[in-house]
Amino acid sequence: MAEAANSELIREKLKYASNCQKYRRIDRNRRMEGFMNVIIERGSIQNSQADTIIVNLFSGVKIPGGATGAVDQALQGAISEVIASGEFQGKTGELAIIHPRDKMPCQRVVVVGLGQRSKFNLEEVRKASAAALKLAEKLNANHVASVVHGAGIGDLNTLAAAQATIEGALLASYRFDAARRSKKNRNVSSFSIVEIDESKLTDLEEAKKIALVLASASYLARDLVNMPPNQATPTKMAEAAQEIAAGYGQKIVVGDRAWAAERKMGAFLAVAKGAGEPPKFIVLEHNGGKEELDTIILVGKGITFDTGGISLKRPLGMPDMKSDMAGAAAVLGAMKAAGELQIPLRIIGIAPCSENMPDANAYRPADVIEASNGKTIEIMNTDAEGRMVLADGLVYAQNYNPTAVIDLATLTGSCVTALGKGVAAGLFSTDEWLTSQLVSAGEAVHERVWPLPLWNEYKDFIKSDVADLKNSGGRFSGVGSSAIFLKEFTDYPWAHLDIAGMALSKKASSYVPAGATGYGVRLLVQFLTQWKSP
Ligand code: BES
Ligand code: MN
Ligand code: ZN
Repeated sequence: MAEAANSELIREKLKYASNCQKYRRIDRNRRMEGFMNVIIERGSIQNSQADTIIVNLFSGVKIPGGATGAVDQALQGAISEVIASGEFQGKTGELAIIHPRDKMPCQRVVVVGLGQRSKFNLEEVRKASAAALKLAEKLNANHVASVVHGAGIGDLNTLAAAQATIEGALLASYRFDAARRSKKNRNVSSFSIVEIDESKLTDLEEAKKIALVLASASYLARDLVNMPPNQATPTKMAEAAQEIAAGYGQKIVVGDRAWAAERKMGAFLAVAKGAGEPPKFIVLEHNGGKEELDTIILVGKGITFDTGGISLKRPLGMPDMKSDMAGAAAVLGAMKAAGELQIPLRIIGIAPCSENMPDANAYRPADVIEASNGKTIEIMNTDAEGRMVLADGLVYAQNYNPTAVIDLATLTGSCVTALGKGVAAGLFSTDEWLTSQLVSAGEAVHERVWPLPLWNEYKDFIKSDVADLKNSGGRFSGVGSSAIFLKEFTDYPWAHLDIAGMALSKKASSYVPAGATGYGVRLLVQFLTQWKSP
């Protein structure tokens, strides 16, 4: 009796164990929150059980080869036919839909154009993958299978091409949090990469991992920027940072007003004076204790809403100022990715967060403020608040004896005027090596930066009669006067990225949906992963 009960118990235990294993397996493949499930599959794409399959074509190709050729054969020449008819030419982003009529298991084949072979690169891969995925979404696809675009072409290696294919699809399928949770919206649930060559599968798994990390970090930055400013408060920013710290074992400090006052952060506190929401000075440390590693510090402007303060902005366009914490959001995204990828560097993320509000307590034009390095600042314009909070952020970075410091800030409208909205961030640096590293990283991920001068002449604009500096050089002082102001608070190799034109997009384009772009996350991660000691 006891024995029977015992064996019953053992059976139960075994069942439990096998269930656990099953669940663990399911769990491993579980869709990440809001993500398509990405699957790497070995096989021939024409045999895929997905409802929608994606293949590609370079412009000018008349008879498709490779996977597209295999699908064309299975379709008894249907792809060759649309090419021959001139209806499909393989131009960048061009799309054709073909119904296989029982010749293949899928419901539809999408052919995406890759453009000219001579102009092909990873950005074209991301764009092609995004275009195909968005079409699949529109067609209510559920399971999509794609080939790796550009594998085996020219200088694109398998890993990079696969990463770009997955990244383009994931970034394009982003929807803002609230919409993502609602069931009724069209969402592709699975995205398979199908590859016939077994020797490529390890690279494909690695590509999947990196693409997921980059997408989830970009999603985080996009979510924070898209969130309305009554939700994405400094407190919310601190909560997001706490989650990263807990998730990846990073050290964290969230400083409040009293904490900042102890450290004499007069510039940060000046902006926070009129804020209703409590300000937060956030510091995250990845590999914090490992002082033997090169130390890279990322500082992000975290103005959760910029009304201009007493120098109030005009109403038109003011709602866009919910994006004034995009620098901080990019830094948080990069810190999350650093944790997931276990980047072998000591990386410190600093995000001074506050609203900039007009209020009886608000700082005023003509006030004189003392920053934490003792420099005094005459306030000319309370709308030049970003450089105030960054000043104390940059001084705080001096504590770590950094190898390099990069700040990201939606700092000036004049930078947008200079480089154009959505084209490139302005880059100001005291260090040529840092400049070249950031330019090449930006090019690699297509989050571009463009060097602008940090000439000493710009300092004349911010000379003050009553303090060490003015916080604004006024009209015609150029974007350079804002960068030269920041330089006063640095004593290390430093680069400043003015991302004012990059944080928001009015219209959706390829893999960047309308709204928050997540700009800066992939740039920073690329910069950090390609890091070699200078
Ligand atoms: N957050 C703005 C800059 C901005 C402008 C960001 C457009 C995104 C899009 C910044 O705080 C600001 O107000 N800058 C002023 C500076 C001026 C008062 C010296 C500007 O650019 O007009
Ligand atoms: Mn402002
Ligand atoms: Zn601002």
